[in-house]
Amino acid sequence: MSSVKKSYTRITTKSLFEMKANGEKIAMLTAYDYTLAGIVDQAGIDIILVGDSASNVMAGHETTLPITLDQMIYHASSVIRAVDRALVVVDLPFGTYQADSKEALRSAIRIMKESGAHAVKLEGGHEVKESIERILQAGIPVMGHLGLTPQSIYKFGTYTVRAKEKEEANQLRSDAKMLEELGCFGIVLEKIPATLAEKVASEVTIPVIGIGAGNLVDGQVLVLHDMLGMSKEFSPRFLRRYLDLNTSISGAVQSYATDVKKGIFPNNKEQY
Ligand code: KIV
Repeated sequence: MSSVKKSYTRITTKSLFEMKANGEKIAMLTAYDYTLAGIVDQAGIDIILVGDSASNVMAGHETTLPITLDQMIYHASSVIRAVDRALVVVDLPFGTYQADSKEALRSAIRIMKESGAHAVKLEGGHEVKESIERILQAGIPVMGHLGLTPQSIYKFGTYTVRAKEKEEANQLRSDAKMLEELGCFGIVLEKIPATLAEKVASEVTIPVIGIGAGNLVDGQVLVLHDMLGMSKEFSPRFLRRYLDLNTSISGAVQSYATDVKKGIFPNNKEQY
């Protein structure tokens, strides 16, 4: 491993491989709109994920299942317009790639063509092998997602840590190997034991990005709204809040409402 940090004008799947090879950690965050994507990109984030978590944080659904392909494309095209440097990866939403590989390819093509995104991400291992193969054959970069896969929440029944038992851990390791062999450019590992995530990261040459998977992987991802403290309810152990935007925004909005009601906004200088 080298500690030399290379500066990249544009992040590509190739630069991510170089980062892993050089021991440079990869920073990834979600974004769903033009304004925040621009801030995230200019702050130097390497991968921007237009996650299907938009279903939760943007649309207020309880799960990621309801968001549609059209809605993902809308979010992705807003993000793309703001981004100069980061690699933009878009989640294939639930129901757009599981039924058959041709539908999976059609969904991935729509995302790439209509949003201008750089890659897609989808959840699962061996069960979605054909879909991944077909998308990759069309020249579309694919990122895998293993461990806690929120689109399967009704199968799991809970958002608790995955792959604590040997059988599930072994399956996950073999799925990660398969994703590498198929040609995926990276894997997200969500909410699994740190020791297992470390093992996977050392067993594959492609970058492994963790969320609730410890520090011994090649990079980290968080949902932007969670790390900015937009909501007070969601508090898993892995979440570090870098701001308390909920309190700041609420304070600002209350001050504005008070000023309007008192008749002190706008003042003389704030009018024509
Ligand atoms: O949709 C999303 O935000 C994700 C991350 C949690 C990795 O898939």
